[in-house]
Amino acid sequence: MRVLVVYYSRTGNTKRVAEALVETLRQRKCNPTLEEIVESKNRNGLLGWLRAGTDATLSKQTGIAEMKSDVSEFDVVVVGTPVWAFTATPAALTFLRRYGRRIKKVAFFCTLNAKGAKRALARMQKVSGKEPVAEASFRAKSIKTGEFVKEVGDFAQSLIEKAAEKD
Ligand SMILES: Cc1cc2nc3c(=O)[nH]c(=O)nc-3n(C[C@H](O)[C@H](O)[C@H](O)COP(=O)(O)O)c2cc1C
Repeated sequence: MRVLVVYYSRTGNTKRVAEALVETLRQRKCNPTLEEIVESKNRNGLLGWLRAGTDATLSKQTGIAEMKSDVSEFDVVVVGTPVWAFTATPAALTFLRRYGRRIKKVAFFCTLNAKGAKRALARMQKVSGKEPVAEASFRAKSIKTGEFVKEVGDFAQSLIEKAAEKD
């Protein structure tokens, strides 16, 4: 099974989960590819943080680089985003708006401090127009302690099983 894992990450948590997911999928004999969603907007510093919150709240579109991978060549595309202001990031939503129609099957995950996972995942589903075969959320705390690795294993398993089911 060919799986593409794409992620947006400002401070590294979502990147860590995406990398662990790719490693797990590789161990389970999938054929994963990892690619970052690269946003053109600078989100560094206090001003970047403040703008990030308002852009997410206002559901703003943003500039992202063209993806190197052809999303239509994969059996499943997994999209990872941090939660910003109780929703998904502008970069992840822009990715889904741009590429959603070409994706066969989709799965979502988000990383967060405490609240907003359900809303962020629902937003990704709405924007992509696709029901995910699997979804998961990971707390920043469990990413720091390393506990998230087991949760990643569960997520990988459920996405492999569900993606293998016939439509
Ligand atoms: C602008 C902004 C808004 C955020 N809003 C939320 C939120 O609504 N709920 C939450 O639990 N965490 C929130 N967070 C925390 C991030 O979701 C969390 O730290 C995430 O793991 C960061 O991912 P990253 O390191 O991949 O960028 C916010 C972070 C930023 C920068």
